[in-house]
Amino acid sequence: MKIAFVGKGGSGKTTLSSLFIRYLAARRIPVTAVDADINQHLGTALGLEEDEAAALPPLGARLPLIKDYLRGDNPRIPSAEAMIKTTPPGSGSRLLRLTEENPVFDACAREVALGAGTAARLLVTGPFTEEDLGVACYHSKTGAVELLLNHLVDGRDEYVVVDMTAGSDSFASGLFTRFDVTFLVVEPTRKGVSVYRQYREYARDFGVTLHVVGNKVHGAEDVEFLRAHAGDDLLVTLGQSDWVRALERGQQRPFAELEAVNQRALGSLYEAADAAYAHRDWERYTRQMVHFHLKNATSWGNERTGTDLAAQVDPGFVLREAGSPQPA
Ligand SMILES: Nc1ncnc2c1ncn2[C@@H]1O[C@H](COP(=O)(O)OP(=O)(O)OP(=O)(O)O)[C@@H](O)[C@H]1O
Ligand SMILES: [Mg+2]
Repeated sequence: MKIAFVGKGGSGKTTLSSLFIRYLAARRIPVTAVDADINQHLGTALGLEEDEAAALPPLGARLPLIKDYLRGDNPRIPSAEAMIKTTPPGSGSRLLRLTEENPVFDACAREVALGAGTAARLLVTGPFTEEDLGVACYHSKTGAVELLLNHLVDGRDEYVVVDMTAGSDSFASGLFTRFDVTFLVVEPTRKGVSVYRQYREYARDFGVTLHVVGNKVHGAEDVEFLRAHAGDDLLVTLGQSDWVRALERGQQRPFAELEAVNQRALGSLYEAADAAYAHRDWERYTRQMVHFHLKNATSWGNERTGTDLAAQVDPGFVLREAGSPQPA
């Protein structure tokens, strides 16, 4: 299950991603965490020391390896250089499975122990630079994440949780359509709900499953405010957590000690995520990746690579989970 946490800066994306990751790990559900946020804090939110987090291998620096592995012997993709972040898999491509070893995870992922014998796998994009935040699509840090998601065949009880910014890069590339569920973290403020409105606009046309998670909610008026703006999109709200405050002070407490009300809120996220499995549509997923690839090809990719990137699309290929029904 591919899950995104998005929201405006400071809303609590990293905090809620890390709590959800711990929630899954505590239930022994395999979970791969991906830090694709501008501010790279997921590692420390999962309890790594600053120096350990800084030593994580950035995906952005491993793009040639990632591309070479994923293209496999797909004849439509002759080299890693010809592969852009939206290049879709086709016949001959290598697909990724979350519970199998592969050279990409070997090179880029690290195990993070979460206490009581539980752990998560962590991948990080690496810190963003000025260049990443502008129009430099080719070098986009989240490009590696998009490639991984587009080559991933994940089943029901295995999770990828991505902590990311709701930025224009993810809308242009199509990254925001790559998830079974998107949790939009919103504080009860006008700025918070304006990010929600913008996201909803993008999401609507692509069938993105969007749930609003209210955060830093203080009382009934805050909940009313969010309900008034987000309606049924509002899934659940979280208040100030002393457990999180303690972690901020460097005091790691066992996850089982997280406040019961927040444990229940995480349970709601899990239920919403799990319910999304029934609505999976691999054909639509594949169609959307092709749509965004063609869009990126004409807007910058063809010129940048000097090739016709539309030729990379394998018209007969549908990404799908082993055992899921074949197209008619
Ligand atoms: N429910 C909560 N209870 C207590 N503290 C919280 C809660 N949610 C977030 N915080 C605190 O608010 C601050 C911002 O949260 P966080 O870093 O998760 O936000 P973010 O959206 O990832 O921010 P950025 O855009 O900087 O990456 C942190 O200090 C975090 O500990
Ligand atoms: Mg963050």
